[in-house]
Amino acid sequence: MNTLLLHCRPGFEGEVCAEIAEQAARLSVAGYAKGKANGAHAEFVCSEPDGAERLMQGQRFNRLIFPRQWARGDYLALPETDRISVLLQALADYPQCGSLWLEVFDSNDGKELSNFCKKFEAPLRKALEKAGRLVDDPHKPRLLLTFKSGREVFLGLAEPANSALWPMGIPRLKFPREAPSRSTLKLEEAWHFFIPREQWDTRISDEMTGVDLGASPGGWTYQLVKRGMLVTAIDNGPMAESLMDTGLVTHLMVDGFTWKPKQPVDWMVCDIVEKPARNAALLETWIGEGLCREAVVNLKLPMKQRYAEVRKLLQRLEESFAARKIKVSIACKQLYHDREEVTCHLRRL
Ligand SMILES: C[S@@+](CC[C@H](N)C(=O)[O-])C[C@H]1O[C@@H](n2cnc3c(N)ncnc32)[C@H](O)[C@@H]1O
Repeated sequence: MNTLLLHCRPGFEGEVCAEIAEQAARLSVAGYAKGKANGAHAEFVCSEPDGAERLMQGQRFNRLIFPRQWARGDYLALPETDRISVLLQALADYPQCGSLWLEVFDSNDGKELSNFCKKFEAPLRKALEKAGRLVDDPHKPRLLLTFKSGREVFLGLAEPANSALWPMGIPRLKFPREAPSRSTLKLEEAWHFFIPREQWDTRISDEMTGVDLGASPGGWTYQLVKRGMLVTAIDNGPMAESLMDTGLVTHLMVDGFTWKPKQPVDWMVCDIVEKPARNAALLETWIGEGLCREAVVNLKLPMKQRYAEVRKLLQRLEESFAARKIKVSIACKQLYHDREEVTCHLRRL
């Protein structure tokens, strides 16, 4: 089990390789990273048998920016028929697992395979339970079977508390018909990802105020309003009337990069498509000056050196807060609904 498999958005394999290689070096795990362009995954092949396990133990999954899911294990060739017997035999070397997810890559090949997985899951689950390989226990490792084709599968393991929250790291969010734009799902996913569900009532509540920079037509404002917040929406563009009719939204046609609230607010969110350094600077100002307590800001990725650029901006933020002795938690993830961008969440502690 010396390979660490990492899923990602197609086209970001290079970023995953750079990121995991950096973390492996930090943890002194020897090996090399590889990934094919648009394969929607990368691998870190460890030189030592316990390398992948050490890497997973020394790294919080949620702190990785580009990987959507990960698992340590090996590839297994499958026959055309009776795949279950071959799988059972290979899994004899694996520990008993507490849950099972069948996954595919987020590529065209993967999409074609998902029907196969749907049909295969029930008989496989039954056979694994019967053989005592699978029980219902959230504390035991999760068995992650990633099908590359009907003839090849990655037999992977991950700790449920240190891997993706959803199969393949893809949340199944329903687009709310009343929302003015599909972008609304980006902020909803950010909340699911960055804020534990049991804290929603205290951290995203109707007693709070929020500012939405670059708000038009209102997909993100919609999410704030849905939680009952009073929102100041900043944009020269128009806001959806349905949102203005709630009476919860004040729309200001001013520049989001210079406007500041008279009173501190609870939340600042920003979806302005600008140079990432400019949006990062907004975070530095709003969180650093105490203009908001929490923030979700999208950073548009540059064409080249995408991982290096994001790391540089995050590091700059960390250093700036540390120099001013301001305690802030900083997280950054390429969410499923992000395209050429990543989402940052900052919280003043
Ligand atoms: C991607 S859209 C935002 C979509 C919005 N989050 C939603 O869910 O409907 C970006 C918006 O930023 C606005 N924008 C660009 N530069 C801005 C600035 N300097 N100040 C305020 N808004 C700006 C644009 O007018 C545009 O409406």
